[in-house]
Amino acid sequence: MKKLRDEVYWVGATDWIVRHIHGNELSTHRGSTYNSYLVKDEKTVLIDTVWEPLTDRFLENLSEITDISKIDYVVMNHGEPDHSGALPALMEYIPNATVFVSKKGLESIQKHYHKEWNFKVVSTGDKINIGKNNLVFIEAPMLHWPDSMFTYLTGENILFSNDAFGQHYASSSIFNDEVDETEVNQEALKYYANILTPFSRLVTKKIDELKKLGVPVDMIAPAHGIIWRKDPMMIVEKYYEWAAGKSNKSAVIAYNSMWGATHKMAEFIGKGLGEAGIEYKIFNVATSDKSDVLAEVFKAKGIILGSSTVNNGILTSLLPLIEDLIGLKFNEKVGAAFGSYGWSGESTDIITDYLTKAKIKIIDKGIKLKYMPNDEELEECITFGKNFAEKMLEEL
Ligand code: FEO
Repeated sequence: MKKLRDEVYWVGATDWIVRHIHGNELSTHRGSTYNSYLVKDEKTVLIDTVWEPLTDRFLENLSEITDISKIDYVVMNHGEPDHSGALPALMEYIPNATVFVSKKGLESIQKHYHKEWNFKVVSTGDKINIGKNNLVFIEAPMLHWPDSMFTYLTGENILFSNDAFGQHYASSSIFNDEVDETEVNQEALKYYANILTPFSRLVTKKIDELKKLGVPVDMIAPAHGIIWRKDPMMIVEKYYEWAAGKSNKSAVIAYNSMWGATHKMAEFIGKGLGEAGIEYKIFNVATSDKSDVLAEVFKAKGIILGSSTVNNGILTSLLPLIEDLIGLKFNEKVGAAFGSYGWSGESTDIITDYLTKAKIKIIDKGIKLKYMPNDEELEECITFGKNFAEKMLEEL
């Protein structure tokens, strides 16, 4: 039995197995959890459910704490299936329970499950009394879907934030002070970088709104990963910082290479960056995890993308990363392109166009070299790296 407080319980499901979520898009090397919480007051309230394949475990956890048929209220902070998947099975036990949703939540849950449960739509500031304490709702659109909302439990001062402040992290413990903080912080950053970056403006707005409410927050209990019990506002401040798009003095070189020439260029461009005092990381996109590379790009100021030219284009293995760079809308990055070629040599121009489309500021026209670079050309790569570093530092 996992407890947050005397009458507040974790009843979610730990997924030790999952290694990708959102189809196959986002890697989850450390598994995940789908957190559901039970509050026992004069009313018995369940906050969020779990992903459908883990329904049995969720119902077992729940029935250890309560007779499921005694649940009065269900709060659905978000309709995405990783949180609502077990709702149909749950509602078989409690067909008349009130299901609290945001206006958009009503739409998303109805359009997923096509059921007419006893919905009650709530908006920001709405409050329901559950006995000693109240639940207060705060809509949080696009953190992560239009329907997302937070629920705040007065008296216990717990913010149930759903996806916001979450991490894909499976553990036998539920609190941040009981796990490896370095791992959890990295997973929180990866989660933000890969999921919430496009909504950074709304993140800042929401945090300002929360701060203005001035309510005490003793715990932040997200719907994935561990609960922030020790210094809960630390993750809020981190989100504020991440949303501002402040980058490190570092760069990422991501490339693919047919016969090693573009790989060699990457190494020597890196050498130039290093000589100019810039920390850098190199990834071959064909053998690297895209979500991890994106987390590194998120932290870095510079992104240098490379590809050999093939069929007047670029190697297709670069396209998933490019598609995410466009979609995630990273703030204030600078970039450039490089690549080897045999005869036509379009890759650098194509990559430069993609970087521009991703709103990454081009600070160098790029470098392309024919076939395998010789020593003199490798020196050109070092110079390219140094020049990139210099221009990047001017942008920091
Ligand atoms: Fe964890 Fe937006 O679902």
